[in-house]
Amino acid sequence: MAKMEVKTSLLDDMIGVGDMVLLEPLNEDSFINNLKKRFDHNEVYTYIGSVVISINPYRSLPIYTPEKVEEYRNRNFYELSPHIFALSDEAYRSLRDQDKDQCILITGESGAGKTEASKLVMSYVAAVCGKGAEVNQVKEQLLQSNPVLEAFGNAKTVRNDNSSRFGKYMDIEFDFKGDPLGGVISNYLLEKSRVVKQPRGERNFHIFYQILSGASEEFLCKLKLERDFSRYNYLGLDSARVNGVDDASNFRTVRNAMQIVGFMDHETQSVFEVVAAVLKLGNIEFKPESRSNGLDESKIKDKNELKEICELTGIDQSVLERAFSFRTVEAKQEKVSTTLNVAQAYYARDALAKNLYSRLFSWLVTRINESIKAQTKVRKKVMGVLDIYGFEIFENADNSFEQFIINYCNEKLQQIFIELTLKEEQEEYIREGIEWTHIEYFNNAIICDLIENNQTGILAMLDEECLRPGTVTDDTFLEKLNQVCATHQHFESRMSKCSRFLNDTSLPHSCFRIQHYAGKVMYQVEGFVDKNNDLLYRDLSQAMWKANHSLIKALFPEGNPAKINLKRPPTAGSQFKASVATLMKNLQTKNPNYIRCIKPNDKKAAHIFNEALVCHQIRYLGLLENVRVRRAGYAFRQPYEPCLERYKMLCKQTWPHWRGPARAGVEVLFNELGIPEEEFSFGRSKIFIRNPRTLFKLEDLRKQRLEDLATLIEKIYRGWKCRTRFLLMKKCQVVIASWYRRYSQQKKYQKIKGSAITVQSYIRGWKARKLLRELKHLKRCNEAATVIAAYWHGTQARRELRRLKDEARNKHAIAVIWAFWLGYKVRREYRKFFRANAGRKIYEFTLQRLMQKYFLEMKNKMPSLSPIDKNWPARPYLFLDSTHKELKRIFHLWRCKKYRDQFTDQQKLIYEEKLEASELFKDKKALYPASVGQPFQGAYLEISENPKYKKLKDAVDEKIIIAEVVNKINRANGKAASRIFLLTKNNVLLADQKSGTIKSEVPLGDVTKVSMSSQNDGFFAVHLKEGSEAASKGDFLLSSDHLIEMATKLYRTTLSQTKQKLNIEISDEFLVQFKQDKVCVKFIQGSQKNGNIPTCKRKNNRLLEVAVP
Ligand SMILES: Nc1ncnc2c1ncn2[C@@H]1O[C@H](COP(=O)(O)OP(=O)(O)OP(=O)(O)O)[C@@H](O)[C@H]1O
Ligand SMILES: [Mg+2]
Repeated sequence: MAKMEVKTSLLDDMIGVGDMVLLEPLNEDSFINNLKKRFDHNEVYTYIGSVVISINPYRSLPIYTPEKVEEYRNRNFYELSPHIFALSDEAYRSLRDQDKDQCILITGESGAGKTEASKLVMSYVAAVCGKGAEVNQVKEQLLQSNPVLEAFGNAKTVRNDNSSRFGKYMDIEFDFKGDPLGGVISNYLLEKSRVVKQPRGERNFHIFYQILSGASEEFLCKLKLERDFSRYNYLGLDSARVNGVDDASNFRTVRNAMQIVGFMDHETQSVFEVVAAVLKLGNIEFKPESRSNGLDESKIKDKNELKEICELTGIDQSVLERAFSFRTVEAKQEKVSTTLNVAQAYYARDALAKNLYSRLFSWLVTRINESIKAQTKVRKKVMGVLDIYGFEIFENADNSFEQFIINYCNEKLQQIFIELTLKEEQEEYIREGIEWTHIEYFNNAIICDLIENNQTGILAMLDEECLRPGTVTDDTFLEKLNQVCATHQHFESRMSKCSRFLNDTSLPHSCFRIQHYAGKVMYQVEGFVDKNNDLLYRDLSQAMWKANHSLIKALFPEGNPAKINLKRPPTAGSQFKASVATLMKNLQTKNPNYIRCIKPNDKKAAHIFNEALVCHQIRYLGLLENVRVRRAGYAFRQPYEPCLERYKMLCKQTWPHWRGPARAGVEVLFNELGIPEEEFSFGRSKIFIRNPRTLFKLEDLRKQRLEDLATLIEKIYRGWKCRTRFLLMKKCQVVIASWYRRYSQQKKYQKIKGSAITVQSYIRGWKARKLLRELKHLKRCNEAATVIAAYWHGTQARRELRRLKDEARNKHAIAVIWAFWLGYKVRREYRKFFRANAGRKIYEFTLQRLMQKYFLEMKNKMPSLSPIDKNWPARPYLFLDSTHKELKRIFHLWRCKKYRDQFTDQQKLIYEEKLEASELFKDKKALYPASVGQPFQGAYLEISENPKYKKLKDAVDEKIIIAEVVNKINRANGKAASRIFLLTKNNVLLADQKSGTIKSEVPLGDVTKVSMSSQNDGFFAVHLKEGSEAASKGDFLLSSDHLIEMATKLYRTTLSQTKQKLNIEISDEFLVQFKQDKVCVKFIQGSQKNGNIPTCKRKNNRLLEVAVP
């Protein structure tokens, strides 16, 4: 059951307390006990508010699986048990959703698990952020940069088998969606002294061992290396192999990672060549050789190694050999060469090896950055992960310059932690409107000042000493420190005169001690000046620059004689100080997330919890103070919504649902529970609980209440279950009973029904048979009656028929006899009258009947109503001949009248004209029949419409009756000329056809006669009154296509105007008056060859002959 429970708060199933803020009572013991209890239960993570304490389990725990990643994904920070994933999720979501740049600060001493933690953070973020081919490549490159840097920058130390010997700060860049775009790595001061010398029980950097173990024979041969570690002076022999570390397989991992990150094959090759060269440098040995001038000189013992190095790196052997034997000092254009003694030669060799390696390391970081840098220029959100070397204290005053630098860096981180935690706490109180109470805590700013103060700081003093002319040794540096820092409360030394430590024998004279926030550390002053100077003889850097090896050349740019720089390079200390300052500035702009790593034991062993060791770390990390600050005033705070959700079951008003603002709900809840008012305070969005006790009380109440609720739920559930079961059973019983009853009733009913049907069928059978019998009897009776009746009716009918036949015969006989008798009687009586009247009467009657018949037949045989229909039925009887003709005439007149009655006035006029024409020309002129069908139009020329005749129209102001083109025959030659012939009410006019000019105008009264032939031609002459004005030119001989119409209209108009009939002469020969002469116009039958047109020819002076076809 417990496993099924879904966690909604870290308070669920808590081992000890998940958040130290809730620790009650709060003291060092309870703090450690809580950690131990949790550690023993495999709970390696514990919170102090939003800070994660991580205890190194030194074994792999099943809490980093993909399922765990899913569990913590998108959950609230306090919702689940403390975990580094919860912090990573919080940081990532805050970056993605609230656009706040984040930094994850991982601190703790060497071996506490910082590097592991940083990798966990990165892998979590990689798992939850965006997916896709491009994004995955970026992720892969970011993750794979770790093995490369670890191989070159990590080493086995007594504290840690994989100790980071450099500081690393990595900015992972995201786009607005939270997809990774790339990253930038900054590295801090590699512990390069390790290259040439390692403390007892420690190893050189992993890569040396990895190459020798993992590279193929062929590759080793190429690098001129041998597999045997003992062949190399730079590799400490005592711990060449580390338990649980497989250098050979790690070498493959590194090479693979380099490939993924984007190293080209030739680059990888160059890198390993440099590594091999460094390794081989350690094997160069020198022997003393005294010169005649008494100066010590050194000589390389065995030049074979040197030769191989030079072959590997492309350096001229003599150049390198000289660089190991001489040192050239250049000052103000003067070059002074001095020889190096054996010790100086070794120093030079080691300096070269250290520089070569550390520069190679920096080059690697730059090269990785090139590969992983974001490809876009869009605004990026940044998550920085800082994994710096942990605070380090060696026993027996073995702490040197490196430890001093490392511890200074940790000091600075502690400071930023203090500043930001306090600041954030304070900001939250202000944000929530809660009163802020100040809390005392140790501020390590004073220690930072001791180290980094620009005037009196240890680093400043060291720099000053290094730059000072004259003899400078580590002792003079210590002296200086003793003078300046003697009174500083965190500085301890035996040398200063008024020292409080004069009698402290645990403090050697060559040492000084600093009270760091994490404890006292005694530093051996030897080597400080040298290491700070970080001197590499110029001869060596120039020799390196001359190498025929692009990588080595690039590593020593100052060796280029063209860029010679006499200025001293910045010291190691000041460089580090500057880079730390930049880092701090960078961190301050980001939202910090802390992981405080704690090392449970010194044995690198699982399950061991060394309380003293942990206690020490807790103290210097100031974790207790951290809790106190967090609890200043209020130990616990939670937004109202989750608080109400968690405790609402403790109060009737809020359970099961609270309708209203969450804050009001929490107020009601707390009042109801009777929690004293001083125990809590209401912030703007959160409830603040002063004492963890109150929270635990709430938790206890909740637990109790949950049990009660569980019981209640169980009770209700059981009741419900039983009730439902009972009801179900009851329902089942009723159903079964009803079904059974139905079944038995059905059976009973069917039995009764069967019996009833049997009885019924018997009775019905009996009844039917009885009825059948009766019916049969009845039918037989009916049939018999019918037969009898039929016979009887037959007899009756036959008898009647006989009677009727007899009767009819008798009647007929009587009628015949009577008729004969009557006839006889009448004939005898009327014989005397018949001869006098009967004949006439019969005649009249017959006539009447015939007439009747005639008219009735005629009625049916009437012809059509068309006046031209010539049909008329034949006469039936001769005696009706005249009647028949008269009837035809009457009918014809009648139908003509009918026909006429349909005419309009205009049609009447036309018919009148046509009638007139018929009277004038029918049977007289051969042209006439052809004209009957032509309608008389009169105005053939549209004088009024045609603009051509405008002049003509203007000259004639009367109504035009005829307007037509005629041919005027020239009397001289019989040729025709076109003229317009106009007939008006009073005049006949001839006009020119083209111009429309009037040629002659004859009043109608002056026209005496019109002559024409009887033939089929259009020639006609208009004779004028002798002596009239118009007659002076003579008569007109004209021809026209519409002769009949023109003559008719001329006739009618003359009649209506002058009341005299115009004489129309139809003759094939007539005279025409031309001036004084009379010419005879004669019409003859023309031959066919002249065509269909009549032709006119002058025959002689007195004869014009017209040939008519
Ligand atoms: N969460 C963990 N689970 C299992 N083992 C761990 C875990 N964290 C650390 N370790 C073990 O502890 C060893 C030391 O851890 P790590 O290298 O992270 O220490 P560090 O704090 O980086 O030390 P340094 O300051 O020397 O670099 C690791 O090699 C690993 O074996
Ligand atoms: Mg580390």
